[in-house]
Amino acid sequence: MQTSRSKRKLILVAGARPNFMKIAPLMQALKNHQTIQPVLVHTGQHYDEQMSDLFFKQLEIPKPEINLEVGSASHAVQTARIMERFEQVCNEVKPGMVLVVGDVNSTVACTLVPAKLGVKTAHYEAGLRSRDKSMPEEINRIVTDSICDYFFTTSRDADENLILEGKKTEQIFRVGNLMIDTLLKWHDRLHDISLQLQPIQNGRVIDFSASYRDREFGVLTFHRPANVDDVQNLKSLLNALCNISRDVPLIFPIHPRTQASIQKHGLLSFVEEFQNLSLVKPTGYLEFIKMVKEAKFVITDSGGIQEETTVLGKPCLTVRPNTERPITILQGTNKLIQIQDIESEVADILAGRGKTGQVPPLWDGKSAGRIVDHLTKIVA
Ligand code: UD1
Repeated sequence: MQTSRSKRKLILVAGARPNFMKIAPLMQALKNHQTIQPVLVHTGQHYDEQMSDLFFKQLEIPKPEINLEVGSASHAVQTARIMERFEQVCNEVKPGMVLVVGDVNSTVACTLVPAKLGVKTAHYEAGLRSRDKSMPEEINRIVTDSICDYFFTTSRDADENLILEGKKTEQIFRVGNLMIDTLLKWHDRLHDISLQLQPIQNGRVIDFSASYRDREFGVLTFHRPANVDDVQNLKSLLNALCNISRDVPLIFPIHPRTQASIQKHGLLSFVEEFQNLSLVKPTGYLEFIKMVKEAKFVITDSGGIQEETTVLGKPCLTVRPNTERPITILQGTNKLIQIQDIESEVADILAGRGKTGQVPPLWDGKSAGRIVDHLTKIVA
């Protein structure tokens, strides 16, 4: 029998909220693996209890062995800090491979370091392209994939993008969607979750079940710089949402970046006048999925939520000019819209004309197992 000393070391990197749902099933599938020893590194890109620790607890992710504690900063500073600290980790751990997920700054930073040290790298969620370099995530995706050795993909379009960029088919493994592994694992256990929505300021706590049972409502998430940092867009967005809330209640768990921008531009008191638009603190994963499952629709600018709504069969209005996840439009319930269309699109959904769709192939809850089967063969 092999001892842990002779196992091959695989560093897995998690940094920001959307990474945690992808890392959870992988860590579970690698538990007690015979030949691979997983080493979980948290970069600390997200650090608030509500943005990080809560996800580790709820999704039963083991405590990271190493936390780089980089915190928030400009993109350049954050990326540089991660690289500097991660290089030390790689030198000490001497991994046989580094696995990164998603498209955040931690993803690209933790690919550059091992690539230059001559350590093999693998990227889960590789090959997605929006072709819009004004989004930092697109730059992260392109750079990460340009230097990675192995690519785990969620859909055929991603494989095709990688092939067009010169990758070989032997480097690409279509494995399905890890985020859906997590969704399917938890979504039947949500009835026991008690959900108390915390107002962002002093207002009253809202008991979700008592307030929204048997009612139609929508869930909102916005955090993209183009929507929330640009004051004109932010104003138009909030205006549309306030108008919609006259017809249908809306729950808006608010990202720290969005809250900061609303406050900076003095828009909080305007929004708070609308009784049916509830601005609440970010919720945990289970609470969020519970809300989406019971909602009539979702309006978002997130990447992952486009996928989760597709699997839950909920109409999703994505307020962005493009998406790196076209399969959610071609096969799923997602629709790209502009801010000025939000009100008419919601009216359509309320009139029963919401988009329906199918679950894409391999989004079946078994992706982590497929990835680990490949890792068993490729980790050095
Ligand atoms: C990051 C990712 C984005 C992902 C999003 C999910 C990049 C380039 N962006 O964006 O792809 O969709 O995470 O949330 O990697 N902050 C806190 N507490 C935290 C973390 C952040 O208050 O725990 C605040 C800070 O003021 C920070 C701001 O949020 O400056 C933005 O955080 P940052 O990690 O830079 O980017 P996100 O907008 O979260």
